[in-house]
Amino acid sequence: MSFSSLPVDVLILVFESLNVDDLSSLAQTCRVVHSAITEFGWSSYLYLHPRQSYSLSAAKRGWQPRTIARYDAKSDLSWDTQAFIARPLSRTWSGKHQPVVVITPSRLVVGAGNHIYSYAFGHARYASVAPPVSFEGSASLQDHPERPRNITALVSIEDGDKNCTFDIAFQDGAIERIYLNPSRPNASRLPSTPELSITRYRLPEMPASDFVESLSSQADIVLALSSNGSARLTNTSFTSPTHEIDIRSRSWTSYLSLSSSTPYAAFGTASTTPLTVHPIFEGGELSPLPSAILHSKKMLAGELPLADKLPSSAVYGLSKGPPNAQWGSSPQILVSGWYDGKVRVYDLRVPSITSCRYTTNRAPSPLSPNSETTNASTTINQTHIIPIHTPILSLVDRWSYEPIYSVSSGGGSASHIAAGTARHSVVSFWDIRKPATGWSVHAPGNDPSPVYSVILESSRFFGVTQSRPFVYDFGPGVSLDTYPSLPLIRGFDNLKQKKGTNQATYHVLRYTHSTSGIY
Ligand SMILES: *[C@@H]1O[C@H](CO)[C@@H](O)[C@H](O)[C@H]1NC(C)=O
Ligand SMILES: *[C@@H]1O[C@H](CO)[C@@H](O)[C@H](O)[C@H]1NC(C)=O
Ligand SMILES: *[C@@H]1O[C@H](CO)[C@@H](O)[C@H](O)[C@H]1NC(C)=O
Ligand SMILES: *[C@@H]1O[C@H](CO)[C@@H](O)[C@H](O)[C@H]1NC(C)=O
Ligand SMILES: *[C@@H]1O[C@H](CO)[C@@H](O)[C@H](O)[C@H]1NC(C)=O
Ligand SMILES: *[C@@H]1O[C@H](CO)[C@@H](O)[C@H](O)[C@H]1NC(C)=O
Repeated sequence: MSFSSLPVDVLILVFESLNVDDLSSLAQTCRVVHSAITEFGWSSYLYLHPRQSYSLSAAKRGWQPRTIARYDAKSDLSWDTQAFIARPLSRTWSGKHQPVVVITPSRLVVGAGNHIYSYAFGHARYASVAPPVSFEGSASLQDHPERPRNITALVSIEDGDKNCTFDIAFQDGAIERIYLNPSRPNASRLPSTPELSITRYRLPEMPASDFVESLSSQADIVLALSSNGSARLTNTSFTSPTHEIDIRSRSWTSYLSLSSSTPYAAFGTASTTPLTVHPIFEGGELSPLPSAILHSKKMLAGELPLADKLPSSAVYGLSKGPPNAQWGSSPQILVSGWYDGKVRVYDLRVPSITSCRYTTNRAPSPLSPNSETTNASTTINQTHIIPIHTPILSLVDRWSYEPIYSVSSGGGSASHIAAGTARHSVVSFWDIRKPATGWSVHAPGNDPSPVYSVILESSRFFGVTQSRPFVYDFGPGVSLDTYPSLPLIRGFDNLKQKKGTNQATYHVLRYTHSTSGIY
């Protein structure tokens, strides 16, 4: 009996064990096998090796499964050899900003100062040419020339596949919903400063007009977290009431997970409980009481410490876990960036070893069913026992103990974590399959700045410093035309373009780091 006469379901089982090169070679052996691979082999490969990328999604919609598989395999290989193109996405801004970045299947939007800048994702007919990212334009959100209002948070809002709706928050406490009115791509347009057309609506402010430090969203739910710790959950359809709680800490970052068996919101703060998980109940009610406290190490085992007496620290960055991990791609995995320079990964499914006493002085609580009888203006001290989780993995760049400002997951083989640090525009990468060894790289131009926001996709990394957004592209076919053009003058904006074969890339400083053990 020959291989090609095996039943198709047996052939598919064989295909599932093969990599891209094996499948290509096998497809050339005979007509029958070729058509079986064309029909089943490539799509089953993509199913078993998912790679998440918004910036490639427009292009991938037009590609054959085989083309996508080859593109992904080439990108994975480039990650293994740390081969990438480094590009600033714009000239340096005037002044220093604390920018925020958000990505949708159609565009990357950067909020810096009182401007937003939009970069649109394009198609590419052939995978030998990298799908382009073009500058769509910018818009000012300043209302009074003499009153600057810096953008503090930005998130994309579900809008039925139009991918053009965002919530945006400002230092002065204002929150707006904005719609980008997409303009037709115009090749003859100068790349300098096309104006974005936007429509704006004012949203209700947080209590005491406290400014929003972090916005996160999933499906039709938006979570806003103010700097003083007010957290508000809103359904974008505005049909159900909003829910607000007060976490009573200087707050930095939030993360929303609705696909988890118990939906939750996680909050990163500067406090003795720097990372807490709050369940979201049926009907979109956010619990004021955390279901778990995530901390740095085993603390005061044997007794029940008060939450207020735990060691104090801060969490500035939160993200989901990498899809391809030894512990699976569960939404119960949380990646966090800490003040002490460590990236800590938690698995909420792992039972906690210790607990602490946590005191609330607010009522009524959605946890107590008899709360209707409570007088809302009376405060009752209630003590709860809350489990403390310790990390399943800690990652560190041992040459840099700078605070971690931002984290993201994805990258090569869908198994990487990226962390933006507080100084020297350093971004650190780890492949969690070999977490003891990582590598770090400075942004093009070596800006003396934090990396405020990072987004990791399968083949691309986007980051932003105080002066500009930048990209590292690990995919094949990147040319000078893939990204917005910059003046080709050596030393311009402190940039050093590579000479010779690959002018699409700029010089960046990098180094590897390893720790003797995982702790
Ligand atoms: C806006 O940001 C700039 C740069 O960080 C800062 O100098 C300025 O004071 C900020 N303005 C306001 C109103 O917060
Ligand atoms: C928005 O994103 C979705 C999901 O990728 C896509 O199907 C849709 O075409 C996008 N819409 C626009 C207007 O590009
Ligand atoms: C493209 O841009 C040029 C220069 O700004 C303008 O004259 C032209 O009308 C634009 N074309 C379209 C289709 O918008
Ligand atoms: C935030 O908290 C600080 C310190 O407790 C306080 O001074 C400030 O007024 C608060 N701001 C708002 C808007 O509540
Ligand atoms: C948001 O509201 C809509 C309309 O009432 C509802 O269908 C949807 O389930 C709500 N979303 C969540 C996550 O509760
Ligand atoms: C609730 O408590 C406040 C202050 O203690 C009091 O003035 C008010 O009358 C109480 N209301 C009810 C309904 O018991």
